[in-house]
Amino acid sequence: MERRKVGILGATGMVGQRFIQLLEKHPWFEVAWLAASDRSAGKAYGEACKWKLDTPLPKHIAAMRVMPNVPEETPTGELPKIIFAALDADVARELEPGFAAAGCAVVSNSSAFRMAEDVPLVVPEVNADHLELLERQSWRRRSGGYIVTNPNCCAIGLVLALKPLEERFGIESLFVSTMQAVSGAGYPGVASLDILGNVVPYIRNEEEKLQEEVGKLLGRYTGAEVEMLDAKLSAHCNRVAVEDGHMECVSIKLRRRATREEVLAAWSEFRPLAGQRLPSAPEQPVEFDASVDRPQPRLDRMRGHGMASTVGRLRECNLLDWKFVVLSHNTIRGAAGAAVLNAEVLARLGKLDVKRTVAMPRDVVPA
Ligand SMILES: NC(=O)c1ccc[n+]([C@@H]2O[C@H](COP(=O)([O-])OP(=O)(O)OC[C@H]3O[C@@H](n4cnc5c(N)ncnc54)[C@H](OP(=O)(O)O)[C@@H]3O)[C@@H](O)[C@H]2O)c1
Repeated sequence: MERRKVGILGATGMVGQRFIQLLEKHPWFEVAWLAASDRSAGKAYGEACKWKLDTPLPKHIAAMRVMPNVPEETPTGELPKIIFAALDADVARELEPGFAAAGCAVVSNSSAFRMAEDVPLVVPEVNADHLELLERQSWRRRSGGYIVTNPNCCAIGLVLALKPLEERFGIESLFVSTMQAVSGAGYPGVASLDILGNVVPYIRNEEEKLQEEVGKLLGRYTGAEVEMLDAKLSAHCNRVAVEDGHMECVSIKLRRRATREEVLAAWSEFRPLAGQRLPSAPEQPVEFDASVDRPQPRLDRMRGHGMASTVGRLRECNLLDWKFVVLSHNTIRGAAGAAVLNAEVLARLGKLDVKRTVAMPRDVVPA
């Protein structure tokens, strides 16, 4: 099968690099266009990017020219119709609408449009039905293009563990305290003198994002809008001296009492994408580890090729019903891998066959 050409916006950053790594041998997608800031545009990718991953930078990618961050045809080829975006929120707010208006499917990692009413915020195992929202976007009607987002890196691992519990027992309230890896802050991210031997009990806007995104992800799509989950959620977010892998300590009150066996069964039987043959979907999205001291970032973040959420330490809670620990890889499941899986679902739904018209002006109004 011929692979679809894709582009990456923000290709030189931490998440951009993960996109390159994950797409290198992807059976459906092939990287054909890379863009970053004006500082990088015009340079060879290998020169513009400080490659930080533990697999070699592919030679053909290193030789590719970093393009300007605009949705225009290039002298060497067409702008791909599928754009994976890994931009900071302020930059995404400015740039992503231009690509959607130019007829691209923008599969975004940024928070800029996650909570917009007509923008799907999606984790395929949790709420793939919300993808229908994209049909309400004005870009979609005008050019065929649209924006689809994946959540904050902490929200993804957490909602994978929560969805099976919400389905079977309902969630009344939730308390979560995170321990987030430094790669979550991008590159160069947190200064080494701030984080080595230390914990920073503040990540800007993170607690608000985690609380509201979980509400939208577990919310109900009515056919016109998403009704937020009716549950109380309180989050504490902390940065810790770990390279990759976000860990979260969760206490939960369910609407209906559940036994330990029922909770474990809800997790182990949760396989909503089984049989769909999506290349990036983990076989077991929520893996339970019964060891007393797991999950741990170094040992468990690569489960399911970095796409699974590992839960452990399930025990009764003195304040709420149950407490447990969740771990997920923040730049794979929490970012690039999540966006690639969203694109695979969009492909299956026939929503990547966008009919792109002509390149549009850069200052297009958002939907
Ligand atoms: N890291 C994570 O674990 C994680 C997880 C989930 C979501 N996210 C989200 O993903 C996004 C990217 O995060 P990151 O960690 O990859 O950040 P990063 O390492 O700081 O990378 C930022 C990227 O954006 C590019 N850029 C900056 N200004 C630009 C502009 N004006 N036009 C075009 N490109 C521009 C940079 O290019 P230059 O190299 O040219 O400056 C770089 O490629 C953020 O919204 C973040 O919140 C990150």
